[in-house]
Amino acid sequence: MKVAVAKETTSGEKRVALIPESVKKLCAKGFAVAVEKGAGEGAQISDSEYSEAGAQVVERSQLSDAELLVKVRPPSVQELENCRDQSWVIALLDPIQRSENLPIYERKKLTTFALEFIPRITLAQSMDVLSSMASVAGYRAVLLAAHEFGRFFPMLMTAAGTIPPAKAFVLGAGVAGLQAIATARRLGAVVEAFDVRAAAAEQVESLGAKFVKMEITEDLQDEQGYAKEASPEFLARQKELLHKHIAKSDIVITTAQVFGKKAPVLIEDYMVKSMKPGSVIVDLASETGGNCVLSRHGETVEVNGVKILAPANITSGMASAASRMFSKNVENLLLYLFENSRLVKDFASDEILKRSIVTRDGMLVSEIVKKALNRS
Ligand code: NAI
Repeated sequence: MKVAVAKETTSGEKRVALIPESVKKLCAKGFAVAVEKGAGEGAQISDSEYSEAGAQVVERSQLSDAELLVKVRPPSVQELENCRDQSWVIALLDPIQRSENLPIYERKKLTTFALEFIPRITLAQSMDVLSSMASVAGYRAVLLAAHEFGRFFPMLMTAAGTIPPAKAFVLGAGVAGLQAIATARRLGAVVEAFDVRAAAAEQVESLGAKFVKMEITEDLQDEQGYAKEASPEFLARQKELLHKHIAKSDIVITTAQVFGKKAPVLIEDYMVKSMKPGSVIVDLASETGGNCVLSRHGETVEVNGVKILAPANITSGMASAASRMFSKNVENLLLYLFENSRLVKDFASDEILKRSIVTRDGMLVSEIVKKALNRS
């Protein structure tokens, strides 16, 4: 089976879907890999490293005979047109927002696999791109905050006096939030965290942070382990509680997401105005609307001396590490699905395929996408 690795075309995207280490492993298992020239540039990987790993390094037009295209971001219309009919596409396809691609999948009879739909089950942990990217984002968010913050994170006892530690507050203690907590702790901050899933409390405390408790009367964890959407009453009570903690925090990192929905607004402008000048907020949910009402996706805004960062594509800022993790996940997925170039899992019974396949030979089969787009 010939796998094509395309250079990402989305502006600012520096990651690459497969790194040479994975190419080598896939070639050893009978795959042939073609990599577009310059595909690894943004992640500091040269074409020669791909060649040495066993890939053919080719022009974009020469990718079109591959049976499977792997990408980080959804392919553009042009890239899809370049795909061979009846081939596979594996990427973060964003099939609901990018539903304009569905007719092309259909016409070209493509089998498309959305990496973001891989179920959060033990079997799929090694293929879980969302968790990998969330870890990178959580880590990076704290470094960005530290860079913008004009003071130290750790407590310092110096000849010039004692400097108190920074107070960090992490909203949303999923994968990104837990990594942010761990990173802020490593830098020496005193950390508090909040999540609507009661199960997060133990994980937060095991990292040495304090879990901010709220009397929870609704069960906000679904069977997938994700948070459910909170009711307006719940969010109002939550904001009351958060306000007190936000006001005394120097650093606030927000990561709250509800799968398939707009991110919950947790920080209103009056909360920002109650923070000390020099404080920093990093909103990791800005792509889905933002957890802070004042954040602007891709921009840094300053309100009353409080900097609010809403980085776009934060993982590209660490393209090398992010690509390494992404690639390992994709490699694990390909080795799980295919043996000797043949699909060895069944569309009807395999949990990963059942949930992640968007179109099969062009036909829309994803229940998630059908429901979101009101298609029967
Ligand atoms: P996510 O990115 O969808 O959400 C981030 C966090 O925001 C979650 O912890 C969620 O509870 C929280 N959140 C939602 N609404 C909120 C609100 N109003 N206020 C505060 N926090 C709010 O979630 P992520 O990080 O992708 O995963 C969530 C959970 O899924 C994990 O913590 C874990 O339990 C589970 N998981 C399981 C895996 C497995 O293989 N078994 C792998 C990855 C995640």
